[in-house]
Amino acid sequence: MAERKGEPRLEEKLFEVAKRRGFFYASNEIYGGLTGFYDYGSIGTLVKKNIENLWRRHFLSLGENFFEIEPSDVMPEPVFIASGHIKNFIDPSVRCKKEGIYYRADHIVGNAIKQNVEGKNAEELGNLIKEHKVRCPKCGGELGEVKVLNMMMPVRLGAEEDTLAFLRPETAQGVYVNFLRQFNIQRGRMPMGLAIIGKAFRNEISPRQLLIRQREFTQAELQIFFDPDKINEMEEKKWEEVSKYSINILSVGKGEAAKHTCKDLAEKMGIPKFYVYHMAKMQQFFIGALGLPEEKFRMRELSKEERAFYNKIHFDVEVYLESLGEFKEIGGVHYRTDHDLKGHGEISKKSHEIFFDGKRFIPHVLELSTGIDRTFYAVMELSYREPKEKRDWEWFAFAPGVAPFQFAVYPLVNKDGVPGPAEKAYVQLKERYAVVYDDSGSIGRRYARADEIGIPFSITADYDTLKDDSVTIRDRDTTEQIRVKIKDLEKEASRLLAKGH
Ligand code: GAP
Repeated sequence: MAERKGEPRLEEKLFEVAKRRGFFYASNEIYGGLTGFYDYGSIGTLVKKNIENLWRRHFLSLGENFFEIEPSDVMPEPVFIASGHIKNFIDPSVRCKKEGIYYRADHIVGNAIKQNVEGKNAEELGNLIKEHKVRCPKCGGELGEVKVLNMMMPVRLGAEEDTLAFLRPETAQGVYVNFLRQFNIQRGRMPMGLAIIGKAFRNEISPRQLLIRQREFTQAELQIFFDPDKINEMEEKKWEEVSKYSINILSVGKGEAAKHTCKDLAEKMGIPKFYVYHMAKMQQFFIGALGLPEEKFRMRELSKEERAFYNKIHFDVEVYLESLGEFKEIGGVHYRTDHDLKGHGEISKKSHEIFFDGKRFIPHVLELSTGIDRTFYAVMELSYREPKEKRDWEWFAFAPGVAPFQFAVYPLVNKDGVPGPAEKAYVQLKERYAVVYDDSGSIGRRYARADEIGIPFSITADYDTLKDDSVTIRDRDTTEQIRVKIKDLEKEASRLLAKGH
């Protein structure tokens, strides 16, 4: 999608349609917005919930003992002493001495010297700034000292505000503090899965790129508790299912991604089978369930220096986004070992050792983490289509399961008995699908409105309907139309949706 000089950038085009059609916009807009916060509008909320429901269906079906829970977003300070977030959840920041703007020091140094500097500490970044004479990217001003800031958002509770708590910076901790209770409720079996789809809060130094770097965002995370002695094992039937399946991998030290079968990842590259199986399931979610193009997708292995402080093996799920001109992390597969449960055991003084399979141990955790807002943005960008030829409006090629509505129903005119069969078709489909009824404006305008929010099929009742009891179904992607008897509409609807796009 090459941009011509003077044309708005892709990110601007997406934001324009997002605001106009109710996908998302700045939060607290009437007060000028709040940096790093966005609201989802009526259409965006439908799409976001669809993504979340697809995530639920896909990940909770990975095991019989997998459930979703909904803990609170506010958690007391000891939780984050135990998890290591108080000490380690820090970002290096640097201030422009001229304009006073704060930046993520690793971001501006990385961009200035065209090197990946993730994982470098404040001193190392400070030295790089001096060595390469890095200046403020906006005004060219001199940069101050590199400092580290904890990214968590504190809240003070009670009449005297003397109880320190935090808005959770990741949903994962909500699962860990529930582990002991849920292990009993789930009848003491391993592997055991607990998922949360909920908000996470981070005081990002420089929120940017719309939904990509916000201060409040939604995560969908599945924590799988398992016996570490079984990390190289996988149920035969499940392994068979993926062993020949290929994943696009960018390994540490390699310049380009390459496809590897799960069998090779386990046998030749030495990645534990249990981990590899779940990498495959992660890829299948983004490509299979959400319909993201395979060629834009990869999993990047993180080096020891780059990994999150709690991870032993860490692959990021990345998608190429043209609006950003780079691959962007939208999720991750994290082998967190017993880091968290051990920490919570020590600080809460409640042993997190369990007795299972004839031995005592602290379970290890494999975390499948998805950023819902980044996924939403990626789905939007990768489904975005420019106006072209006869279709002089922009549109979204959403997969039917992601689209806000699967069908739109229209009477061609609002008179002469035409609305009757249209209403009949609408009522019939509404029982099973998300359907919108639209009877205002020309039919061309209505097609445009439906395309702009990515509705896959539009159904029109016209004067012929009164004679042959048939309606027209227009396919969003091809704009081709077919004629179907109203009595066969439900069958045809399910056939079209199964065919997908
Ligand atoms: N529990 C593991 C964890 O939180 P993470 O890589 O820090 O790992 C997981 O975050 C996902 O959350 C990321 O892959 C990304 O999609 C999303 N995410 C992280 N920070 C974000 C931010 N500031 N704005 C929007 N999404 C963010």
